[in-house]
Amino acid sequence: MAAVPSSRTADWWRDAAIYQVYPRSFADGDGDGTGDLAGVRTRLPYLAELGVDAVWFTPWYLSPLVDGGYDVADYRTIDPAFGTLEEAEKLISEAADLGIRVIIDIVPNHVSDQHAWFQAALAAGPGSPERELFHFRPGRGEHGELPPNDWPSQFAGTTWTRVPDGEWYLHLFTPEQPDLNWAHPAVRREHEDVLRFWFERGVAGVRIDSAALPAKHPQLPDFVEGVDPHPYIDQDELHDIYRSWRALADEYGGVFVGEVWLPDAERFARYLRPDELHTAFNFNFLACPWDAGRLRRTIDDTLAEHAPVGAPATWVLCNHDVTRTVTRYGRADTAFDFATKAFGTPTDPALGTRRARAAALLTLALPGSVYLYQGEELGLPEAEIPLTRIQDPMHFRSGGIDPGRDGCRVPLPWTADAPAYGFGPAGEPWLPQPDDWARYAVDRQSARPDSMLSLYRTALRLRRSVAGFGDGPMSWLPAADGVLAFTRPHGLICVVNLADRPAELPAHGQLLLSSGPLDADGRLPSDTAVWLRA
Ligand code: GLC
Repeated sequence: MAAVPSSRTADWWRDAAIYQVYPRSFADGDGDGTGDLAGVRTRLPYLAELGVDAVWFTPWYLSPLVDGGYDVADYRTIDPAFGTLEEAEKLISEAADLGIRVIIDIVPNHVSDQHAWFQAALAAGPGSPERELFHFRPGRGEHGELPPNDWPSQFAGTTWTRVPDGEWYLHLFTPEQPDLNWAHPAVRREHEDVLRFWFERGVAGVRIDSAALPAKHPQLPDFVEGVDPHPYIDQDELHDIYRSWRALADEYGGVFVGEVWLPDAERFARYLRPDELHTAFNFNFLACPWDAGRLRRTIDDTLAEHAPVGAPATWVLCNHDVTRTVTRYGRADTAFDFATKAFGTPTDPALGTRRARAAALLTLALPGSVYLYQGEELGLPEAEIPLTRIQDPMHFRSGGIDPGRDGCRVPLPWTADAPAYGFGPAGEPWLPQPDDWARYAVDRQSARPDSMLSLYRTALRLRRSVAGFGDGPMSWLPAADGVLAFTRPHGLICVVNLADRPAELPAHGQLLLSSGPLDADGRLPSDTAVWLRA
């Protein structure tokens, strides 16, 4: 008998397909050029038809949007550009009616400089209890004119900003994102309250932003990368924090996914112990070049690091921070590297699309849960943003060297022949859409069985209805050089050809789906993948 997919049970998160909505760019309900919750609500049927189990919303709270909403001014208020709390509640319940769970994004490392706490800290001055919620310090040098330590920013530039009374405050990201002091009990209490606030409104899960960064060495010491123990990445205190979060989430049946980017497998797995986070993003897979040997190693390493703690792996090909898959895979060097992200690096969109289609079948066949980023199902390439329209602080803080992340955040095309491709009723979108995007519009792709959207719809439907996908074992099959072939339970087989010549397929498999046509001899062409049932 076929197993019941766990997407229908309390263990749904072990093999869910989760769709990431970047609210600003998904759908614009009120026609002001910025996406909003009204827009999302009208498009929920689209998400249900696509066949996803949950939607993760990047931050939708009150925010000056200096870092796309990762600068939160108030967690209990929806930004007016996006809507109201009442609308968020409606959205959560309408999504639930369609069988879609909602995951929100919490950013524990920092708040916006407009957050009431930070404003109070500025007003209260040195030595005040208000300042203890952040990392305020006197400067070094004769007159305190030098920053308190030498930490480089996660975005280019310094991590310290001096305020008029002479003290400096720490910000791992932009100056508009002051870091919270996680050694302070009020910071912990506040976040636990925020989690309750949202779980009580029916959210099913929480994505934890920069989850390995919030705790800091109490002395904030200088350090030499690779020599000294790191003073803020992956501090042991974090586990205590996440254990208390887990206990709280368990009261509501809520789940976590941590944004934990750590090269050390053993340290990474600690976050996934049974009383800590349920899942964490697996960025090594996203970062892996289109190379059979390296992908196989990454998959093996990922499964091996998750196994001892019993946590399912997560698989991600793109998100709002990285170059879109089609563009990345269209490059001769597909390795993820912020430096090679520069526009002008030659990319072959046809090749990138073929590989992205094959990668979709690979990803959806792997054991665990999978995340799709809005527009990935449309095969959108990275858009080129005119310099005068760039918004991402990453671009400005790098002195214009890094193109920034706007190219993957462009508003979605829904209707080929409508203004702004149907993103909203009217109005210029907040980021310009390329002139040739009509071909990516949802209505055009819906009509074509060979479109990326049709591939994703079919693949997600099969992943739900055919036993063997999702959580569970996998084993590699013998395969030619450059070919990945593996089995899943119930006779399911996935074959991906990354070699530059056609590959033979197993003799007795029934073809469930292929990312492109087989050749005249029934072989699997380069950069193509299939699902078979033995
Ligand atoms: C995470 C987010 C990114 C944001 C940063 C700071 O990496 O994904 O978009 O800029 O954290 O909050």
